[in-house]
Amino acid sequence: QSFFRNRHFINLEDFTKEEVETMLEVSFDLKKKFAMGEPTPYLVNKTMFLIFFEQSTRTRNSMEAGLAQLGGHAGYLDSSTMQVSHGESAKDTAIILSSFGHAIACRYCNWGYGNKYLTEMARWAKVPVMNLQCDLYHPFQALADLMTMKEKFGKLERLKVSIIWAYAESHKKPISVPVSQVLLFPRYGMDVVLAHPKGWELPDWVIAQAKANAEKYGGTVTVTDDEEYAYRNAHIVIPKNWGNWVTDQTGLTAAGAVKVVDEKLMAHKSWKCTEEKMALADKDVVYMHALPADRNNEVEDAVIDGPHSIVYDEAENRLHTAKAVMTLLMGGR
Ligand code: CP
Repeated sequence: QSFFRNRHFINLEDFTKEEVETMLEVSFDLKKKFAMGEPTPYLVNKTMFLIFFEQSTRTRNSMEAGLAQLGGHAGYLDSSTMQVSHGESAKDTAIILSSFGHAIACRYCNWGYGNKYLTEMARWAKVPVMNLQCDLYHPFQALADLMTMKEKFGKLERLKVSIIWAYAESHKKPISVPVSQVLLFPRYGMDVVLAHPKGWELPDWVIAQAKANAEKYGGTVTVTDDEEYAYRNAHIVIPKNWGNWVTDQTGLTAAGAVKVVDEKLMAHKSWKCTEEKMALADKDVVYMHALPADRNNEVEDAVIDGPHSIVYDEAENRLHTAKAVMTLLMGGR
């Protein structure tokens, strides 16, 4: 598995289907060992730096706990306490941190900046750079989603997975989760439905790439504004982000983020996930959500706390997939 060593993890499209499958195999193995209390000292004495421009619960802690469980150490860096907040370049930050440790990871979701910042760091870093979510991609989330689906269904081909999501390029919000999902799932032969109201389209290049992936691997991609179609007979539904929040688009730091009601999102409150809509789906449908969920606006408690919800399994798998990616890229085995 040395072909993973020192590679960057910015976008799952940079890895072949077989490589993603290897990541899943290692994730399942690490999950089993964690459950059995078996030590996994694959990254002893390895150090990584986690730079966060925005808040996190799952991503930060899956990386920190994960690397500790592998025998290494992760240092958390709030970008507002770093010299990047005074304008230090991605190049200088990447070169310096590379000389202190064995990997750099970064979350930077600011529209138009995040992916560029990560790509620039990757250009100069001498160690793997991992994307903890940018404006365009959230590869750790999509990998954990895929693991959770495999765990629940085994065979993924011909499963109808509906991503019911409200993002538009014009809205200048991060599109990282639906983009990563709509690109990845067709590579596993799934029938992917992307449903949103008119005017909330993902960029054309995303849909074109998703359809190309579907054609290559035997999946399908359908884009619709028909919510009922998305729910009907679905095996997996992923409705997200009708919450009434939006973060500051200009600030570099979490401290600069402001919470305001987003009128454009509120106009589509009717797209909330309800028990009534879930009843249209397959009897064994699962409800997924990357979390955090807005229980007031996105989903009824009866759904997210109900028998079809697998959100906590999905969140737990963030730990195991994070450990797998760190192990493979940082040369753990
Ligand atoms: N899903 C996810 O990335 O969660 P956090 O924002 O808590 O890291």
